[in-house]
Amino acid sequence: MAKLWDARFSKAENGRVNDFNSSISFDCRMFREDIAGSIAHATMLGRCGIIEASEADKIVKTLREILADLESGALAIDPEAEDIHMFVEEILTKRIGDTGKRLHTARSRNDQVALDIRLYLRSQIDDIRALLRELLTTLVDIAEANADAVMPGYTHLQRAQPVTFGHYLLAYAQMFLRDAERLGQIRARTNISPLGSGALASTTYPIDRALVAELLDMDGITENSMDGVSDRDFLAELIFALSLVMMHLSRFSEEIILWCSSEFSFIELDDAFSTGSSIMPQKKNPDIAELVRGKTGRVYGDLTAILTALKGIPLAYNKDMQEDKEAVFDAIDHTKLCVELFTAMIASMTVKTERLREAASGGFINATDCADYLVKKGLPFRDAYRVSGRLVAFCIANKTDFESLPLDTYREFSPLFDEGIYDAVDLDNCVNRRTVYGGPSHESVLRQIALVRDGAARIE
Ligand code: ARG
Repeated sequence: MAKLWDARFSKAENGRVNDFNSSISFDCRMFREDIAGSIAHATMLGRCGIIEASEADKIVKTLREILADLESGALAIDPEAEDIHMFVEEILTKRIGDTGKRLHTARSRNDQVALDIRLYLRSQIDDIRALLRELLTTLVDIAEANADAVMPGYTHLQRAQPVTFGHYLLAYAQMFLRDAERLGQIRARTNISPLGSGALASTTYPIDRALVAELLDMDGITENSMDGVSDRDFLAELIFALSLVMMHLSRFSEEIILWCSSEFSFIELDDAFSTGSSIMPQKKNPDIAELVRGKTGRVYGDLTAILTALKGIPLAYNKDMQEDKEAVFDAIDHTKLCVELFTAMIASMTVKTERLREAASGGFINATDCADYLVKKGLPFRDAYRVSGRLVAFCIANKTDFESLPLDTYREFSPLFDEGIYDAVDLDNCVNRRTVYGGPSHESVLRQIALVRDGAARIE
């Protein structure tokens, strides 16, 4: 294909150089945004009298036809084109001749691509937030059904204190709520128009930048033309936000993997979300959770790639910046897949509440409550802590637990013990006495559920 810059060059481009330079294979996914940006630009050029109104109309009309043809498949993307911007302009010019050649007045591909990527990321952020809303709704439903399902909470992966499965899931809900909120903030910084920055030094035409932003439903315009074409902060922070989403999903996946092992056996994944082994007939593997955990690494890789690509680039545009797209597209594609599949996986899992309670019963996770009981009887906490510790050692040596120990035995350790100790170490009581704001008690869990539901509903 003939190049736009043939006039300046005396030789055709080397075939390998064209392939190396081309970004059409991946930036073709921005065709809607490229056309929307061009429609807004042409409309503005017409209204400002920079091109004839009739020509602007013709360009807009033809761009709409090109969009429809691309959507329907009537027009195929040319893999030989250098990028999506050149491709659309070439088709436009093919269809309406000289008028098409006027579209690029007062514009450079540098501000054009900066606009396109912002528009594309804006719509992707909306998609991802909708997926997070689904995940949050699913989490809250499971939490509500298991608001009283006592289970051990862990520190150092050692049984620590009793919580409920509902409270446990609501901890993850808080992480995903923050993720959704963070993405909303990044959307606001992304939804700013750089168009009018030109190649780097803006333009001499009397353009109306604010009008273009308004036509594209953007919240403002960039302040400095060199920053306008060079800034990819919004893109890097999006990959960072996606890395956090993946990190949260990965921690959760790790729990799922542990929980469905025979050793924990806290949940069972649905057959439709598990895989078998090619050799071991008994196996049921949590592949989805493992892949989510694994893909977290590649999204971190995308973040490292963009930060590294940007760190040495002098102002303003340099071709290195074309590398931003594959990194952010990869992070978006994989995060979307992971959130969607993870949601479906947990929505269909079975929670084994009896096993949760059994695990909560065996490990003296009410030892803190035993000490707190003595504190309420007047003993200083450090002394109460020692008495409770000696009781744990005694129970382990005698293969018993706090619930079954006779009162006489308790009293050998401290005369402060009375019948009330059995109430104090009862697991449900241990949970429900933790009425502190943010704690695992029944009321606190219900309040958290209402708050998360409310937060999820506010994700537009
Ligand atoms: N394909 C290019 C990119 O993704 C578009 C901008 C090209 N600008 C230029 N001056 N070569 O960055």
